[in-house]
Amino acid sequence: MVACEFSPGLDGIPVAQSAISYVDGQAGILEYRGVPIQELAEKSTFLETAFLLIWGYWPNREELAAFEHDITYHRRVKYRIRDMMKCFPESGHPMDALQASAGALGLFYSRRALEDPEYIRAAVIRLLAKIPTMVAAFQLIRKGNDPVMPCDELDYAANFLYMLNERRPDPFAARVFDICLILHAEHTMNASTFSARVTASTLTDPYAVVASAVGTLAGPLHGGANEDVINMLEEIGSVENVRPYVEKCIQNKIKIAGFGHRVYKVKDPRATILQKLAEQLFDKFGGDRYYDIALKLEEVVGEYLSYKGIYPNVDFYSGLVYRRLGIPSDLFTPVFAIARVAGWLAHWKEQLEANRIYRPTQVYTGAHNQPYVPMEERN
Ligand code: ACO
Repeated sequence: MVACEFSPGLDGIPVAQSAISYVDGQAGILEYRGVPIQELAEKSTFLETAFLLIWGYWPNREELAAFEHDITYHRRVKYRIRDMMKCFPESGHPMDALQASAGALGLFYSRRALEDPEYIRAAVIRLLAKIPTMVAAFQLIRKGNDPVMPCDELDYAANFLYMLNERRPDPFAARVFDICLILHAEHTMNASTFSARVTASTLTDPYAVVASAVGTLAGPLHGGANEDVINMLEEIGSVENVRPYVEKCIQNKIKIAGFGHRVYKVKDPRATILQKLAEQLFDKFGGDRYYDIALKLEEVVGEYLSYKGIYPNVDFYSGLVYRRLGIPSDLFTPVFAIARVAGWLAHWKEQLEANRIYRPTQVYTGAHNQPYVPMEERN
């Protein structure tokens, strides 16, 4: 074994060999299976992209039709899961509700037949199909309503917006949402994907893999930042307040939500696409008062922090798009999770293909041979 230095946050340490996606953080390149993200956003759909990520090749017409059909067929969730969700506190965060519900799927479908390709395919279908239904169900339940059943006539993205807002979405809005799902589907060895791979490496079931990844995505340094961006824009409140806000953050060493990335040292290519989508939505459905604040923030943060490679990341403009689509801000991260399930499942499958349980080492910094201290001697 090659000895190596401790690297906080595993910065620069490869933890897997992977052929799923590629990032060049200096050039601002993101590819899924070698295909540039811009190409996918323009020409693909989320389910076609998910197929490509998970199985590693473009589906032909019949394969894609079968995949879409099976996902449509499995969108419903068991009434016991809906009943379980009705017992969740309304004030609970939707990411916690999603983590619990994703894990609960294992109660119904777990066989751990990981050597059986049919089991793998069924788990992929179920997770992609049911996660959006569970996110929408919790939203309606916490408003005191019954969940809306999925609509088989609608495609993946349109059906989610329909279940969430209780009306059929505008087709352009649905296509924009589908592109958002493509953009968030996969992103190399980020924290939640690593978490998924660690969990997968124990050969547990895929529902536990996704539940553990959802828990990891929830944090404000990862997927939770998209929600923080909107709260921050609200707090800033006006274009005039942007500069004092940024100066205060820098002075007090407070991270500005939606900026910075471990890998990208230029503007995240997904942020560029999301910004364009936001503008198209504003042209069609009316503007958002936060957009001018966001533009000014990007300019001022650039002035102060671009020398450190701090630029907008994927979370910076996604919230503005989601707001225009009628998605409440505490559902931004669950929506991110709906998309990222594709990437997590691709990594689950890849991990199983050449598995060795993750068991890293540590640098012990504690004491040795300490005596037991009787209670009366402790202070
Ligand atoms: N605002 C201000 N300064 C920042 C920011 C930021 N958002 N991000 C990094 N910096 C500065 C740090 O203060 C540090 O400066 P220093 O070297 O002078 O001390 C330097 O840039 C490096 O920062 P680290 O925290 O060491 O970078 P790391 O790679 O560990 O963290 C992270 C990356 C977590 C994304 C960080 O940039 C951050 O917290 N951003 C805000 C939260 C956010 O938007 N998260 C979403 C990321 S994308 C995703 O997960 C989907």
